[in-house]
Amino acid sequence: MRHFESLHQFSVNEITDLLQLADKLKSGYRPLMGQTFAVNLFFEPSTRTKSSFVMAEHKLGMEVLDFQAETSSVKKGETLYDTAKTMEAIGANMLVIRHADDNWMEELSGRLTIPVINAGSGKTEHPTQGLLDLLTIYQEFGTFRGLKIAICGDIIHSRVAHSNAQALKRMGATVYLCAAPGFEDDSLPYPYITIDEAVDECDVIMLLRIQHERHEGHWHIAYYLQDFGMTKDRESRMKNHAIIMHPAPVNRGVEIDSDLVECKRSRIFKQMENGVYARMAIITKMMEEWGMYHAPAFKKYQITANKGTVANM
Ligand code: NCD
Repeated sequence: MRHFESLHQFSVNEITDLLQLADKLKSGYRPLMGQTFAVNLFFEPSTRTKSSFVMAEHKLGMEVLDFQAETSSVKKGETLYDTAKTMEAIGANMLVIRHADDNWMEELSGRLTIPVINAGSGKTEHPTQGLLDLLTIYQEFGTFRGLKIAICGDIIHSRVAHSNAQALKRMGATVYLCAAPGFEDDSLPYPYITIDEAVDECDVIMLLRIQHERHEGHWHIAYYLQDFGMTKDRESRMKNHAIIMHPAPVNRGVEIDSDLVECKRSRIFKQMENGVYARMAIITKMMEEWGMYHAPAFKKYQITANKGTVANM
C-alpha cells in the first residue's frame, strides 16, 4: 500500500483523477466516510498547509487530534517513528507529516499500518503543494500541453520546485528554471533561462520564496527583486493570459513587488483555496487505497469544461 510521499508514485492518469476529484469536491461533492481520526504532525512551521489540511479533514467529516511538536514528547527526545507509532496505537487512521529532514519517510517506510501524507520533507518533496499547483494551472488553461512554465527562485533549497518540475513535465508542460547564482540545482534536467526571458515567453511564472532557514550563510536580498524578482515592469511585459504563482509565504518586495501579490495575474490566493480541495482529494484517495473508505470516489467524473473547473483530459 502506498503512502502519499511524492507525485512520482502516481501515473498521469491517477494525477488526472485526483484533479478531477478535487474539482468535484470543490463543487460540493462529499464522499461518505465512517468515523476516522487524522493527526497532523508538523515539525516545521506552517500556516497554509497545516490549516488547509485541518480544513480538508473537517470538510470530509474526520475527527482531528491535536498535536503540537513543542509540547509533545519529541521535546524529551522521542523519535518521529515512535511518535507516529504512538498515534497509530491510540487509533489514528491517517497521519499528515511535515519535517525538516529530507528523507524522514524512509524511517517510517513499511512500519505503519495507516497511510502517511507527506506535507513537506526538507528540501526534497512537497507533493500536496504540487497537486494544488497543478489544479490551479489546469483550471486556468484546461491543459498542460503546450504550456511554458518557469519555476523561478531558490531552486536548490525548494521542495516545491523539486515536486512541481517533474510533475509538470509528466503532465505535458515545458518546464524552465530560473535562479540567482548559487540557487541553481544542476541535478534537475530542465533548461535555465533568465527572469526576463521567462516573463517574455512563459504562460506561468511560478515564484519561490528564498529559503533562508535552509541556507548556511546569510543571503543578501537588497537587489534580489530588481535582478531576479517580479517587478512591476516585468509584470507589464508578461503575455496577456500569463499568470503568476507563488506557494507562499511571500517575502514581499523580495521575490515579488508587494503591489503585485494581489494583482490580476496573481493566483496566489487561488492556490491556497485550491489547497483545501487538492488535500481532500488526496485524503480520499489514501482512505480508499487503505480500505478505510469504500464508496466509488474514483469512478470517472463527467465534469463540464467551463473555465474554473477541471475538464476531462
Ligand atoms: C512552502 C513550503 O513549506 O515548502 N510553503 C507552503 O507549504 N505553502 C513554500 C515555502 O515555505 O517557501
